[in-house]
Amino acid sequence: MKIDVIFTQTTSQDYSVYIDELTQLTLNTKVLIVTNTTVQKLHLQTLLTALKTNECFVVALPDGESYKNFETLSQILEACFEHRLDRKSLLIAFGGGVIGDMTGFAASIYQRGINFIQVPTTLLSQVDASVGGKTGINNAYGKNLIGSFWQPQAVYCETTFLKTLPPREFSAGVAEIIKMAVTFDKDFFQWLETHDLSVDENLKMAIAKSIETKARVVSMDEREEGIRAVLNYGHTFAHVIENQTKYTTYLHGEAVAIGMVMANKLACKLGLLSLEEAKRIQTLLERYALPTAYAIPCVEAFYDAFFLDKKSAHAKIKFILAKGIGGHLISDNVPKELVLESLKEIHV
Ligand code: NAD
Ligand code: GLY
Repeated sequence: MKIDVIFTQTTSQDYSVYIDELTQLTLNTKVLIVTNTTVQKLHLQTLLTALKTNECFVVALPDGESYKNFETLSQILEACFEHRLDRKSLLIAFGGGVIGDMTGFAASIYQRGINFIQVPTTLLSQVDASVGGKTGINNAYGKNLIGSFWQPQAVYCETTFLKTLPPREFSAGVAEIIKMAVTFDKDFFQWLETHDLSVDENLKMAIAKSIETKARVVSMDEREEGIRAVLNYGHTFAHVIENQTKYTTYLHGEAVAIGMVMANKLACKLGLLSLEEAKRIQTLLERYALPTAYAIPCVEAFYDAFFLDKKSAHAKIKFILAKGIGGHLISDNVPKELVLESLKEIHV
């Protein structure tokens, strides 16, 4: 299966996302595979078997979001220099979103930019992070604050890699699938309500549907000047939750699940979403054991923390809200009192 990303507004190279097509990949160039120690042990041999290259090197980084930093980025660049990669060489990001974001960033700055291919191995990175060219690292000021837009040359999603994912990581990916359906595709949402994603063929269908949505959105708005921001549904709240819990309690997708429920409370107050629709979304999230509640320590402090979000331009908070199931609204003029009211209601 192949889904194309064709840019309509910007001049980045178009590319394709392949699902379960990685039997053989011939690359007539020098290649550096960037992975982490976990994925290396589990799946590197499978990738190496499929690859035909001029020369192939591997750098295996430590595993974890806490390593998505300058130091690890330097390790990737160091490997590029050590193996004498040139401007025609290629990086392969082989891992979850952490590896994908860091490798893409390294590719964008090594010798002013070289090509890279994404081979995402988590559900979250297959349905979201690997497509669209957002790359980056974290620093003391926050997540993904340093980075670039740098599109991959191709993306290869192999569902077989997902078989070894821990259940929580799987569900975190499902949260992003539900996000796509709620904001863009009512039929897909209804389909998700009636299909179990632990069944292989359903999972493959859901991955394809999500990538189609992401590809369509990114094609229209590569630089997030408009509609791409809708992909951040639930994220404004999630970033505060992740920050308050020091990135240790929830996986990103889990925080997004809670964030979607919070955003829905607000959407209900604004008359954009019915209580029944909000309940359906929550029920679907809970079916995948995703958390849907969070004890907000202080509602005012939670509100203030929104202003740290890099998406809140000019001191206005940009809320992404579901407008019915399958629709969306971006609003930067939601009254503070209404937000506080919704936060108080979700306070458990
Ligand atoms: P991750 O990359 O940390 O992977 C999660 C865990 O799963 C890691 O321990 C990893 O080693 C392990 N893993 C990977 N593949 C595996 C497999 N097949 N079997 C068993 N274990 C496996 O996390 P993630 O959820 O994939 O990605 C989160 C990151 O993605 C965050 O840094 C986030 O900022 C970023 N992100 C980027 C975008 C984007 O558009 N660029 C979008 C969403 C998220
Ligand atoms: N994950 C949000 C985006 O790619 O824009």
